Amino acid sequence: MGCLFLLLIVIFWLQYPLVIFSRHLCQLEQNLALQLLKLKLAIDDYASADCESNDHFPYPKTLSWNKSTDCCTWDGVTCDGVTGRITELDLSCSQLHGTIDSNSTLFQLSHLQKLNLAYNDFSPSQISIKFGWFPSLTHLNLSHSGFSGTIPSQVSYLSKLMSLDLSAGSRELDLSLSGFSGIIPYSIGHLKSLSFLDLSGCYFSGNIPPTIGDLTKLTTLRLFPNNFSGPLPSTISNLVQLVEFEISSTNLTGNIPNIFGNSTNLKSLSLSYNLFTGLFPSSVTNLTKLESLEISNCSITGPIPSIATGFPNIILLFLADNSLSGEIPSWIFDLPSLKYLVLRGNQLTGQLKEFKYNLLEVVDVGENKLHGPIPTTFSKLMNLTTLDLSTNSLSGSLDIGIFSNCKQLRRLGLSFNNLSVFSSQKDVTLPNSIGSLYVSSCNIRELNYLRAVKNIGNLDLSNNKMYGKIPDWAWSNWQVSVSYLNLSSNFLTVIDPLHHFKELVYLDIKSNLIQGQLPAPPPNMFLFIVSNNNFTGKLPSSLCKMSSLVILDLSNNSLSGIIPKCLVNMSTSLSVLDLHNNHFKGMLPRKLANCKALEVVDLAENLLNDTFPKWLGSLPRLQVLSLRSNGLHGRITTSRNQLKILDLSYNDFTGNLSERFFNNLKSMIIVDRTGTGTGNPLRYIGRIQYHDSLTLAIKGKKIELVRILSIFTTIDFSNNKFKGDVPKSIGNLSSLRGLNLAHNSLIGPIPQSFGNLSVLESLDLSWNQLSGNILQQLASLKSLAVLNLS
Ligand SMILES: *[C@@H]1O[C@H](CO)[C@@H](O)[C@H](O)[C@H]1NC(C)=O
Ligand SMILES: *[C@@H]1O[C@H](CO)[C@@H](O)[C@H](O)[C@H]1NC(C)=O
Ligand SMILES: *[C@@H]1O[C@H](CO)[C@@H](O)[C@H](O)[C@H]1NC(C)=O
Ligand SMILES: *[C@@H]1O[C@H](CO)[C@@H](O)[C@H](O)[C@H]1NC(C)=O
Ligand SMILES: *[C@@H]1O[C@H](CO)[C@@H](O)[C@H](O)[C@H]1NC(C)=O
Ligand SMILES: *[C@@H]1O[C@H](CO)[C@@H](O)[C@H](O)[C@H]1NC(C)=O
Ligand SMILES: *[C@@H]1O[C@H](CO)[C@@H](O)[C@H](O)[C@H]1NC(C)=O
Ligand SMILES: *[C@@H]1O[C@H](CO)[C@@H](O)[C@H](O)[C@H]1NC(C)=O
Ligand SMILES: *[C@@H]1O[C@H](CO)[C@@H](O)[C@H](O)[C@H]1NC(C)=O
Ligand SMILES: *[C@@H]1O[C@H](CO)[C@@H](O)[C@H](O)[C@H]1NC(C)=O
Ligand SMILES: *[C@@H]1O[C@H](CO)[C@@H](O)[C@H](O)[C@H]1NC(C)=O
Ligand SMILES: *[C@@H]1O[C@H](CO)[C@@H](O)[C@H](O)[C@H]1NC(C)=O
Repeated sequence: MGCLFLLLIVIFWLQYPLVIFSRHLCQLEQNLALQLLKLKLAIDDYASADCESNDHFPYPKTLSWNKSTDCCTWDGVTCDGVTGRITELDLSCSQLHGTIDSNSTLFQLSHLQKLNLAYNDFSPSQISIKFGWFPSLTHLNLSHSGFSGTIPSQVSYLSKLMSLDLSAGSRELDLSLSGFSGIIPYSIGHLKSLSFLDLSGCYFSGNIPPTIGDLTKLTTLRLFPNNFSGPLPSTISNLVQLVEFEISSTNLTGNIPNIFGNSTNLKSLSLSYNLFTGLFPSSVTNLTKLESLEISNCSITGPIPSIATGFPNIILLFLADNSLSGEIPSWIFDLPSLKYLVLRGNQLTGQLKEFKYNLLEVVDVGENKLHGPIPTTFSKLMNLTTLDLSTNSLSGSLDIGIFSNCKQLRRLGLSFNNLSVFSSQKDVTLPNSIGSLYVSSCNIRELNYLRAVKNIGNLDLSNNKMYGKIPDWAWSNWQVSVSYLNLSSNFLTVIDPLHHFKELVYLDIKSNLIQGQLPAPPPNMFLFIVSNNNFTGKLPSSLCKMSSLVILDLSNNSLSGIIPKCLVNMSTSLSVLDLHNNHFKGMLPRKLANCKALEVVDLAENLLNDTFPKWLGSLPRLQVLSLRSNGLHGRITTSRNQLKILDLSYNDFTGNLSERFFNNLKSMIIVDRTGTGTGNPLRYIGRIQYHDSLTLAIKGKKIELVRILSIFTTIDFSNNKFKGDVPKSIGNLSSLRGLNLAHNSLIGPIPQSFGNLSVLESLDLSWNQLSGNILQQLASLKSLAVLNLS
């Protein structure tokens, strides 16, 4: 055997002597080119920081390059066995840092077929036109490498290129340095051999050139996210070999053309987060190999096609946040491979049908218009982890016991339907896997089915029929894990101590019937809402330790004592402070000025006795200040601010109203056009949507603004002792919608400038000593609905 083997080697040797000799002969100029390349680039751990997260192990390949050895043996270098020319250079994840410009010796390696520079930091290198001069290049990988700028059209000379990976990471915070930008050159269509093109994470803009349809060998095309404009070119229908097409978050407009019908190899199609309109692209439903279809957030309308011949392999179907209407077609309930179904946020009607197959892990059909009962076959979906049916019109009694066998279920959302959730058997409970349970407005009376649930994090039991007290076993289970707890709008009369809650950051117990002392909250909370109860006594000192608080709402209770001085130490994040309608006395907390994040301060209807808060001007974000109905007195002082709602009514303020005071209300000067009109989305004040109410006397009667709308710019100085003239500068407050100066001692005429208050809806100047003519201008105020000048 040994002899035969030796003989074979000798024969081989004789036949191919040149091969054996030259295999280790790296050409001198190549050796030099690589050495110079190495010299120009520094080694820096951070340069390949992204690499590890991509499951590669970064290390400095070039460090081991020894100039006295054959460069074909160097790490990352591959040579042609015959010619000794370098054909592959893989320097990915090599911790290289430095620039590669057109003078780089890299471009002397003109026989390269594969070049991988991924996961290094060559910023701010631009892609040199010399990249186009590698005539044999088949694979170019510059992903996550810090290259940026436009793609020179010379790159399209790479006629043999099969794979082009220019995807950028999110490593660079400075977007201008991250990835490629500009428009995709038309000449990209010359890259006829290309089968893989990844331009994800770049900053391309302009139209996608229709020449992309010339790349008929493409199997993978990734263009997300980018900032294109215009439509998806219909030439994409030529890309019949596509397996993966990802074009989400690219700002494309127009209809989604029906161009996928011939791309029968497609496995993954993602068109989400674009500005598409029009109908669902019916051609996709014939794609029998499709495994993943994502068309979320695209404003597409109309029905989901009622017939789908394909989809035997579909695993993931994401059509959320569109305006799809009509019934959920029955084929969706019969997809044999389906695991993830997300139809949330559409206008879908009809009933939920029974799912025929049970691989489903996620079913989210929330925020639609579904009605009828909840199918009991959910009990068979053993792998279900998320079920969200909330915000529909589903009805009937739901025995929550049907989920007891769904041992993987982590998130269950049933809120805002017309359901009565109960458990028919006392010992049946939801599985311990439940981490989030949203059952607002479910006519819930008791909680026995939560006995085994010991790791719940988010629990919404608001708007139900729970009376008295939460059972002790529940309270002690929740203390361990609950971070979000909403018990608002029930009939609770007692709340047990909170200080053992370890994870609690959000507590809402408003609108119950709770009496007694305010429980001491745990220190890490963001949101503490206890309004509309009957808490009495002083504020617990532990309130002052809440350093992360964003919203504190103690309004509409019977709390008393002073507002503790330390309260203002508590939080640099405090955005909403609502103490209205209690019995607090004493002074305004002096150092509220330190709470720089405050947007809403409502101290109305208390017994505070102080002068006007001078600290106003030091709160850069304050938009709502209500001090209504207190014992505040003295003159009001001027400061710069962002106020949109200022209510000082029912106090004892005195002195003249100064022109300067109103000139400083700069944010009342800009009309917020985006917020006007009822059809438009409303913007809310407060960093977290703030659900409490602010009572304002508007249009002659008290109305509750259930959410404080930023458009409701108002000033109420009524029922004070202001005297002197009405300032002309009020007329500059062009976004003012309500103005009430009634019950003061103002004199003189109504300033002509009031004619400029073009969006004013309510004006009350009654019970003053105003004189002069009622101005013509006031009659021209089109929005004015209530005018009281008596
Ligand atoms: C380079 O290779 C030579 C010869 O094999 C060896 O003597 C020398 O130590 C090597 N240098 C380094 C830095 O590894
Ligand atoms: C290349 O080198 C030449 C001569 O050293 C220099 O003038 C030129 O600016 C360099 N080009 C780049 C892109 O650095
Ligand atoms: C580019 O290189 C990186 C790092 O080696 C790798 O993860 C990625 O898959 C490569 N891209 C292509 C298209 O092969
Ligand atoms: C899409 O356009 C909007 C508005 O111009 C812009 O804010 C957004 O960043 C763009 N999206 C992408 C992915 O660039
Ligand atoms: C996206 O493009 C639009 C114009 O098409 C431009 O107004 C906008 O600023 C761009 N957004 C970004 C984030 O580049
Ligand atoms: C699919 O191919 C056929 C035959 O080549 C052609 O007639 C049809 O228009 C193509 N469909 C699309 C959507 O491009
Ligand atoms: C899907 O295929 C069926 C038959 O295979 C055909 O009749 C139908 O027109 C196709 N639908 C689309 C949208 O291409
Ligand atoms: C998706 O659309 C919904 C509803 O239009 C919107 O609330 C959400 O912010 C959108 N998501 C993104 C990431 O744009
Ligand atoms: C649940 O998932 C596991 C693993 O993914 C799978 O083996 C099993 O068949 C699934 N069970 C059902 C009922 O689909
Ligand atoms: C709620 O369901 C009940 C029957 O369960 C029905 O009588 C009632 O009309 C439904 N209400 C709404 C608003 O759909
Ligand atoms: C609030 O509690 C106090 C003291 O317990 C009681 O006198 C008062 O009637 C209660 N108010 C309401 C509205 O329940
Ligand atoms: C307000 O406080 C002052 C002293 O600080 C006191 O003289 C006055 O009587 C108080 N007013 C009321 C209404 O309590």
